[in-house]
Amino acid sequence: MEISANVITEPERSLIGAVPTALSNVPWLESGATGRLLLIDAQEINRRLLKSILRAAGQYEFFEAASGAAALEILDRNSIDLVILDLVMPDMSGADICRRIKGNRRTSLLPTLIITNTQSAEQEVLGIEAGADEYLTKPLHPSVIRARVRALLRNKAAIDSLDEAETILFALAQAVEARDSYTAEHCQRLATYGVALGVALGLPRSELIALYRGGYLHDIGKVGIPDSILHGQNRLTDAEWAVMKQHTVRGEEICKPMKSLRPVLPIIRHHHERWDGSGYPDGLAGEQIPLLARMLQLVDIFDALITERTYKRAFSIEEAVAVLEAEAAKGWRDPELVSLFISLLNRNMLETTASLIDTDWPELSSMLRSLQNMHSGIQGVC
Ligand SMILES: [Fe+2]
Repeated sequence: MEISANVITEPERSLIGAVPTALSNVPWLESGATGRLLLIDAQEINRRLLKSILRAAGQYEFFEAASGAAALEILDRNSIDLVILDLVMPDMSGADICRRIKGNRRTSLLPTLIITNTQSAEQEVLGIEAGADEYLTKPLHPSVIRARVRALLRNKAAIDSLDEAETILFALAQAVEARDSYTAEHCQRLATYGVALGVALGLPRSELIALYRGGYLHDIGKVGIPDSILHGQNRLTDAEWAVMKQHTVRGEEICKPMKSLRPVLPIIRHHHERWDGSGYPDGLAGEQIPLLARMLQLVDIFDALITERTYKRAFSIEEAVAVLEAEAAKGWRDPELVSLFISLLNRNMLETTASLIDTDWPELSSMLRSLQNMHSGIQGVC
């Protein structure tokens, strides 16, 4: 059912209610908007009316779902730009659907718009807290719906370009890993160990995600280090060593423009500081060194010890623990963190953290899995 710009049909009136006179003659200033929209509403008539309203102002491709389960299936199989949903669904609430969308890394930045008959501040708070980007209560004028849809799609386009930039950075990090002749999946293991340590310390989700990303990005600054220094067979000269140390600062510079990576910057810059202040680049000591950087450093050293490199054999867990304890005694590492890490190793906690997160924290688990999928996809390309 098509509707002309200024004519409101009777069925449409049932969706939008009475139309304020001042708005009924507003010309459609913007047209030609495009996007893939998923309409989730148990009532077919509501979906049809929304399509009619939106078709008048843009070239949208519509996907429709009458239940939460059907919506999640569509989201799984298609690249959607905007979700418009009702609060009441037969199998799950609109708020639950929003939570599922926002809890999945692949769709976490997908804009969601709730349009509902329910006029309740409590429901609105619930919807927004579940992650909805907009909450509109009927009656609504078609121009309001069209304007909100266009605005959300503009935001989505901006987010997409940022997301692509982040994906490129992760690809670069994978390329650096390969060039550094590390063993396969070094970054993946650092990310997992880092999160395991973070869970043991009871860190908030945002910091666990930073640790996960830090596992991949901490050495990205090595992209600017010449092969002769990175793979030099002889001991580095003072000048070469100074260049090598720069990878911390360069890495921070590379990632700085991306707002989403801000929590990761302290990890990248400070993962070579030492507890006694003898590290680089800033010579920070003790708790001046950001906690996340101390954690990532520990798992980085541990993984380097237990895996084979071109210049060394793989150490056993016991040998690696002895090295960590010796470095803590020497004053290089945070002694409390080293003790905690070793106690986790002894309880086999690093390996079991994934299942722990699965049970206790499904939202985080889903996000980590999505990040992992994204990174494995990239690894296949590099
Ligand atoms: Fe490094």
